[in-house]
Amino acid sequence: MRKPLVAGNWKMNGSRESAQSLVAGIKEGLASAVAAEVAICPPFVYLSEVKSLLEGSEVALGAQNVSHRGNGAFTGEISTSMLLDVGCKYVILGHSERRALYGETDVLVAEKLIAINAAGLKPILCVGELLEERESGKTEAVVARQLDVLLNSVEGLAALQNTVIAYEPVWAIGTGMTATPQQAQDVHAFIRQRVAAKDAALAEKMRILYGGSVKGSNAAELFAKADIDGGLIGGASLQVEEFLTICQAAAN
Ligand code: 13P
Repeated sequence: MRKPLVAGNWKMNGSRESAQSLVAGIKEGLASAVAAEVAICPPFVYLSEVKSLLEGSEVALGAQNVSHRGNGAFTGEISTSMLLDVGCKYVILGHSERRALYGETDVLVAEKLIAINAAGLKPILCVGELLEERESGKTEAVVARQLDVLLNSVEGLAALQNTVIAYEPVWAIGTGMTATPQQAQDVHAFIRQRVAAKDAALAEKMRILYGGSVKGSNAAELFAKADIDGGLIGGASLQVEEFLTICQAAAN
């Protein structure tokens, strides 16, 4: 059995004050332990503070990005050892916003994934297609390309042993336009098959999250699908009640 995971990606949102009230609300709401793993991924500058605020809870801490390089003269970057130092467990990588707005390529994403795994952190690897790619029937080809760069390398396949995949159709991110449970399930099943072709045991244990306009109102029907093992949540992770409803849906 794969333990569901709900991870909140705060993106570039919030303040010290909002982080405090958000974490307090989440801790209180999760006090009756849910049968899902929960993680929150605040902006870098709030990681330490959120880690302290999370003390006494089971909620894990994650970062939204990391450098693939070790410590050194890389102005403005953050290393895996720094993330470990402040208590992170997870690192999101390959998010479509980073691919589209910051030019991250499949190859760079693969380098980051290998670095994250080597450091003992757990990668949450985002994959997903653009609207025009879906409409022209290229969804599987795009997702396959994003995965194959890792599946076809020895180091990549080793790092995937520790990886959570997040399928995030780009057209569903922040648009309110969620993939239907069946659309999501179809791609999740495709991802699992693609991994199984290289390593059946890995495919069976790998958690594949859905992300893209998940809300309290649609989480349960998404998470009911066989290959959907939880969610990567953007906007709704900034609202205590919404986020808690989603965590509860994953636990059921
Ligand atoms: P939304 O939930 O706001 O659509 O964002 C999804 C996402 O990008 C999570 O990483």
